Amino acid sequence: MSKVLKNVIVKLIVGAGQAAPSPPVGPALGSKGIKAIDFCKEFNARTANFQPGTPIPVLINIKPDRTFSFEMKSPPTGYLLLKALSLEKGHGQPNISNPDNVCGELSLKHIYEIAKIKKTDGRHAALELEGIVKSIIGVAKSMGIKVVP
Ligand SMILES: *[C@@H]1O[C@H](CO)[C@@H](O)[C@H](O)[C@H]1NC(C)=O
Repeated sequence: MSKVLKNVIVKLIVGAGQAAPSPPVGPALGSKGIKAIDFCKEFNARTANFQPGTPIPVLINIKPDRTFSFEMKSPPTGYLLLKALSLEKGHGQPNISNPDNVCGELSLKHIYEIAKIKKTDGRHAALELEGIVKSIIGVAKSMGIKVVP
């Protein structure tokens, strides 16, 4: 096993509450000298408030002494939008001005709920909810999801 001399960052997307020391998590951490089970326990505890399986991007910082810490990001906006509509994917040719090119409609209330989830992400914590809402509406539009009042 190679010796870790400086901090190593491992990026993974793991289902909330579903981290397990099997691939991809186990080998990704095991190869860096971390016991995957230690990460999994902490990750699952910290994601217990999410719906199980929600994809959570996570950055794991492994120190030379093989201790680690990790930072979680909010689930991808596209995932949250599709989830709210129980859809697998967005429209292939999105155009919210044309009903044929719209795959679903969400109310502004849904968008605010998604914005609150995005705001739990450290990168977005300082942003105004309004700004996050605007960017989510932009993502929705690009997927053929129409936002209605
Ligand atoms: C979107 O749909 C509208 C209404 O049918 C149409 O006028 C417009 O050209 C479409 N835009 C694109 C980029 O296809």
